[in-house]
Amino acid sequence: IEFNVGIDKLSFFVPNYFVDMTDLALARAVDPAKFHIGIGQDEMAVNPATQDIITFATSAAAQILSDEDKKQVDMVIVATESSVDESKAAAVVVHGLLGIQPFARSIEMKEACYAATAGLVLARDYVTLHQEKKVLVIATDIAKYGLNSGGEPTQGAGAVALLVTANPSILKLNADNVALTQDIYDFWRPTGQAYPSVDGKFSNSVYINAFSQVWDEYCRRYDATFSEFSAIAFHTPYTKMGKKALLPKIESENETIQKHLMDQFEKGIVYNRRVGNLYTGSLYLSLISLLENSELLTAGDKIGLFSYGSGTVAEFFSAQLVPGYEKHLRKAEHEALLNQRVRLSIEAYEAMFESKIDLNHNDSFDDPTLYSISEIKENHRLYRTK
Ligand code: CAA
Repeated sequence: IEFNVGIDKLSFFVPNYFVDMTDLALARAVDPAKFHIGIGQDEMAVNPATQDIITFATSAAAQILSDEDKKQVDMVIVATESSVDESKAAAVVVHGLLGIQPFARSIEMKEACYAATAGLVLARDYVTLHQEKKVLVIATDIAKYGLNSGGEPTQGAGAVALLVTANPSILKLNADNVALTQDIYDFWRPTGQAYPSVDGKFSNSVYINAFSQVWDEYCRRYDATFSEFSAIAFHTPYTKMGKKALLPKIESENETIQKHLMDQFEKGIVYNRRVGNLYTGSLYLSLISLLENSELLTAGDKIGLFSYGSGTVAEFFSAQLVPGYEKHLRKAEHEALLNQRVRLSIEAYEAMFESKIDLNHNDSFDDPTLYSISEIKENHRLYRTK
């Protein structure tokens, strides 16, 4: 059966501060080339304590939702591994801040960096059944490994919002997903632990192996080859990661295909190089980067997406570019968002990193950013809004 359901609008938000990776390398007595080339990161997004996954999510979605959309959104899915509450879903707060019609369903989803993909599949299938409805899927996270930790150069913060509808303007989602679940401890964060436990080298090899397995299974099921893909976007914990997974798999392809996919890969990491890891949002930031920076894409092209969440769940699936998709992108706004950020000194970054909100003391804050925490009142966060 042919369904025409997919991504009608998409956008990202990152907080207003960043660390330059040369500054971080020098402060940590590391060769800057290790961060820029070895890991593939140039800048890293940092957030003040008054901005959290809820303000990122709301900021990302507010840019794309029209008043009409807010009346039609029937479900709000927030994927995160930086939850601010064990019980209440961030989506409930986001739904309220955005002013979405009340008769909607709002939930939070979790499986490390993978959960937004589960949200997207749920949204696709739901809209297929209820074609007049829209579903808002948001991936929002704060990737923090700790000062001076091995993972420090792969931190980041921000959100991606996707509006899923029938007859989408940007990407039609194909129903060809291949998922893989393996119970592995490569990266995990037990309840209450501030930073993740991570076996960095092991996580790299589990990621590479998961891509290999889902790709092979995809080929077995659909008789697919790399030549039918105009590009493949990857979950991007740091930009070198996807390359390390893709290169060994395309070794046996002809040079034209190899070069094309690697050129496209570079377009898919333009924004990620300047943001760092968004966890759940990383794959979708890479997708936006690809769509907004590649000059080799045309309507009808098939794009592969590789989603990976530690723990682990991986998934490979594809989407088709819709005619006129380029008119619905937000390249100028996204570049402006990245360019106007404040570059922090390492001292300022470390102070911001350590600063925390204490839910046990009523307090108010003067972060003027639209969608920021304005107040702590009786053990919960209140948000500044329009
Ligand atoms: N010039 C150029 N390159 C240099 C260099 C220099 N002077 N010095 C080192 N390099 C290269 C190394 O050769 C290496 O390249 P290869 O991986 O291609 O061999 C690269 O820089 C990194 O060097 P190391 O392996 O020595 O780096 P490290 O020990 O500091 O660890 C890391 C890197 C494992 C990514 C670490 O930052 C980390 O643990 N990050 C968090 C975990 C993570 O992101 N894992 C990814 C898979 S898990 C996942 O995808 C889920 C998720 O989002 C977390």
